[in-house]
Amino acid sequence: MVSTTLISNPSASEATITSATPNGEINGAADHSNGVHVSKGPGRHQTVGHKSLLKSDDLYQYILETSVYPRENKALKGLREMTSKHPCLVTSFAVDYRNLMTTSPDEGQFLMMLLKLMNAKNTIELGVYTGYSLLSTALALPEDGKIIAMDINRKNFDLGYPFMEQAGVAHKIDFREGPGLDTLDALLLEKKNHGFFDFIFVDADKDNYSNYHERLMKLIKIGGMIGYDNTLWNGAVVAADDEVLPKYVRYYKDYVCNINRVLASDPRIEISQVPISDGITLCRRIL
Ligand SMILES: C[S@@+](CC[C@H](N)C(=O)[O-])C[C@H]1O[C@@H](n2cnc3c(N)ncnc32)[C@H](O)[C@@H]1O
Repeated sequence: MVSTTLISNPSASEATITSATPNGEINGAADHSNGVHVSKGPGRHQTVGHKSLLKSDDLYQYILETSVYPRENKALKGLREMTSKHPCLVTSFAVDYRNLMTTSPDEGQFLMMLLKLMNAKNTIELGVYTGYSLLSTALALPEDGKIIAMDINRKNFDLGYPFMEQAGVAHKIDFREGPGLDTLDALLLEKKNHGFFDFIFVDADKDNYSNYHERLMKLIKIGGMIGYDNTLWNGAVVAADDEVLPKYVRYYKDYVCNINRVLASDPRIEISQVPISDGITLCRRIL
């Protein structure tokens, strides 16, 4: 049973699910008539171990096994495996969040490519968890690159930190514990941070995405990129009002739909909605 406590639990701000019973429990199979959450068989995300909007598990598995896992950095692999098994990351909820919370390896690979193409050097990450996207970013930045990483939960970051040390990139990471809005406001107090950052990855509390956006627009440089994660919310953005969704998916759906509208109508940015993993919207600041 997914309770309202879960909704207000910030560490459970993200999840991708296959289907839900009316009381909010998660099943492996689903076939919703409007095409949302289509997943037949023994649990799409359980079997592939992660989130994907692709129509078949086999296709997603093919991508992982052909193009992602063979090229995955050893420390990233270790971090991913630790995250999938670590007993401290188990919650008492019906859903196992360990794999659902973390950025998927195909998205991590995509982020690394993007960061290298951009020659990004100074970045911000909002929502670290155990650090898969953080480590991907750190690996993609040059030796003198820096990431200001923000999360309300330091314990999960600490679990992933040895893998960042193992990869030799820990010196690029400046972790700041606390609510993202407060940490951003502190950054904004210093003029030198305005228009300073090349890339910002946002993967934290979806109900604050539009509040983050105004602050991030001041921090990102013109020509820099902000990536908002989970902007397709496992397809729930097109779920009918009467469709049965777990409470937390229903709760965040409106916020995700709202940020999608905000981004689409913001003349200060160019955008691209990329349907990888759970959907990431890339926003390039032009004004
Ligand atoms: C989906 S996880 C991030 C996954 C991460 N990018 C990765 O690759 O594993 C979301 C994270 O946002 C954090 N979070 C939730 N609310 C927050 C807030 N108000 N400020 C900062 N971080 C927050 C949670 O603690 C959680 O670690």
